[in-house]
Amino acid sequence: MTDIVVPGNALVVLLGPAGSGKSTFARRWFSETEVVSSDRCRAMIADSEMDISVSARAFALFNDILRHRLEIGRLAVADSTALTTLARRDLRTTARRAGAPVVVVALDVSLRTCTARDAARERIVGEQVVARHVALLRDALRALPREGYQAWHRLREEEIDDAVVRVEGRRPPVPVTPEMQEAYVREPWRRVSR
Ligand SMILES: Nc1ncnc2c1ncn2[C@@H]1O[C@H](COP(=O)(O)OP(=O)(O)OP(=O)(O)O)[C@@H](O)[C@H]1O
Ligand SMILES: [Mg+2]
Repeated sequence: MTDIVVPGNALVVLLGPAGSGKSTFARRWFSETEVVSSDRCRAMIADSEMDISVSARAFALFNDILRHRLEIGRLAVADSTALTTLARRDLRTTARRAGAPVVVVALDVSLRTCTARDAARERIVGEQVVARHVALLRDALRALPREGYQAWHRLREEEIDDAVVRVEGRRPPVPVTPEMQEAYVREPWRRVSR
């Protein structure tokens, strides 16, 4: 069993080909608000998770949301393929600027499995894309030890369902005080900076 220990202020980087189970893994172990998905960012901007014409905007938004969470000390889970050196560098930069540790969870799932899962779901990316992703995964697995993470984990296909994620020192949401409630009623438009 793989025990994945995550500091409560960390950036968790999920890494893996389309169909490897990143979003499923994220849903299983983290709350909805902790997970930031690059595909959802595309949809928030252009109403489609598949509209790659807005990828630059979507990744800017993706990094921004992660940055905001990390700057206030909250756990953030990056749900994107993170397969390229450049994508991982951007994520490391975001974390470093916020002073957050980075934990990588790489889902090492075969082309065969990813392709089968991809074909069976609603949003199909296709075998060509999955094959390219799997090739990038091999490169990424070689590069990870040299990229300087707090921790990185490689979960093989048969290890994913048995892995356990343990978040240590997760910040609870700020409790709502009567003063906050009153201020909210009085001037909900007020900008409060943190
Ligand atoms: N551990 C698992 N065992 C069996 N099926 C799984 C597992 N994880 C995910 N799946 C199935 O595989 C499909 C793809 O999973 P998911 O959407 O989580 O992949 P993904 O890595 O987020 O893909 P993408 O990069 O395209 O967003 C889904 O239909 C999901 O139910
Ligand atoms: Mg996904």
